[in-house]
Amino acid sequence: MFWSPLVLLLLSLLARGAPAPQAANEDDADSVSPSSARSSTRTQSQAGSSTPFFSVSAKSQAETVAPVTNDPNRILWTIEDPRERFDPIRGMFGAPILGPQNVDLERQNADLFNPPSSDSGSVPNVKWPFALSHNRVQAGGWARQQNENVLPVAKNIAGVNMRLLPGAIRELHWHNTAEWAYVLKGQAQITVMNARGQNYLANVDEGDLWYFPPGLPHSVQGTSKDPGGTEFLLVFPTGAFSEDSTFMVTDWMGHVPKDVLAENFQVNISKFDHIPDHALWIFPSLPPPINAKAIVSPDGAPPDPFSFELSKVKATQLPGGNVKIVDSTTFKVSKEIALAEIEVEPGAIRCVLLWHPTDDEWSFFVEGEARVTIFASGDNSRTFNYQAGDVGYVPASFGHYVQNIGNTTLKFLEIFKTDRFEDISLNQWLALTPPDMVKAHLGFDDETIDALQKQKPTVNGPRSN
Ligand SMILES: *[C@@H]1O[C@H](CO)[C@@H](O)[C@H](O)[C@H]1NC(C)=O
Ligand SMILES: *[C@@H]1O[C@H](CO)[C@@H](O)[C@H](O)[C@H]1NC(C)=O
Repeated sequence: MFWSPLVLLLLSLLARGAPAPQAANEDDADSVSPSSARSSTRTQSQAGSSTPFFSVSAKSQAETVAPVTNDPNRILWTIEDPRERFDPIRGMFGAPILGPQNVDLERQNADLFNPPSSDSGSVPNVKWPFALSHNRVQAGGWARQQNENVLPVAKNIAGVNMRLLPGAIRELHWHNTAEWAYVLKGQAQITVMNARGQNYLANVDEGDLWYFPPGLPHSVQGTSKDPGGTEFLLVFPTGAFSEDSTFMVTDWMGHVPKDVLAENFQVNISKFDHIPDHALWIFPSLPPPINAKAIVSPDGAPPDPFSFELSKVKATQLPGGNVKIVDSTTFKVSKEIALAEIEVEPGAIRCVLLWHPTDDEWSFFVEGEARVTIFASGDNSRTFNYQAGDVGYVPASFGHYVQNIGNTTLKFLEIFKTDRFEDISLNQWLALTPPDMVKAHLGFDDETIDALQKQKPTVNGPRSN
């Protein structure tokens, strides 16, 4: 029988025990593997100076570090899952819970309760549901807040979710941080005046924005356009903001001698008999005229509007969804806050993997359900799940993705303390890096190199392969 050289080679490989494709050739005497390179280093003084003690051949990165697990590490359940209990069991790991269970929280947080094996080390908590915030409830509405007291990682941004019935007023006030707002429902009428005495009044509808620069006095009132009034999200560019320490007109005037009030306003002291003794904060009132106009100021109107009709901006359509980006390039007064409003279709991922170079991201989930893994460097990464009404936070430069894990559209806001929106895509970065450099790190084949996207992907549709 004739044995071809190929068959002989195969037989000899089998006899030696064929290497696993990625573990490869530790025993191959013709080239220097990293383990023998390390031992060469240890013995270099004995190696003599005439021959290089060490030569590196082009070998796979998989020989220095073991390859990652083949487990796709998909999420194990979502909030749609009707089961009555959940257990932290993943493949051959874990065990059923014997003690008490909070099944609703476990249903909402599959990736904390039963993490993917790719999660590692420690990452600060980056999830805060507004449903866990203390709610300040008064006649006319309510407000609940998230700041660094409840989410310590959120140093640069805080948020408030506020509700006003038709006519209800969030009283005239100011604070030393800027205020950015996104109307979730209904319509709000805002007033604001700048230090030059230029004033502004506008109705702000669902999906639209307002912005008050630091220290400028303003008010917000629910109109009757929507019979329910309005609900909105407020964002402040500091984690220390508290809705409970704003400067309110009634709070101030109730704490100034009446005699001084009379002098200040140049009227009889009896005119102050009805000012409140302490702050109103949120209180009911009659709805304002929808067609109200700002009082004509002798100092004129402000150069740029303090509201922005984001709902009328056409979204950029993407393979797996759409996006609108607003920063001070279009909304001129918004010097400290930038926004990306993103919709992701089921089965799609927001910009496969990315980071924001210098700005922390504060996110708010408007609808749907999301999975986010935060990569914090140094072998630390953790996966979180978000539902509508949750706040998320990603410190600057932390790698992450946002995946729609529900079967409805995922809509969320990414908010940054900056005047310019910026992100860096892993896919685009690798596409614009020499292919040999990429192959040396990741062992990609040519097909994978060809699939890299030189044009930044923002929302990818479901994979076809
Ligand atoms: C201020 O108003 C009170 C009550 O109306 C009145 O008795 C008083 O004379 C007024 N004072 C002055 C200086 O007009
Ligand atoms: C979403 O998926 C769940 C189970 O995966 C199913 O029961 C439910 O009907 C789906 N909802 C919609 C709106 O498709």
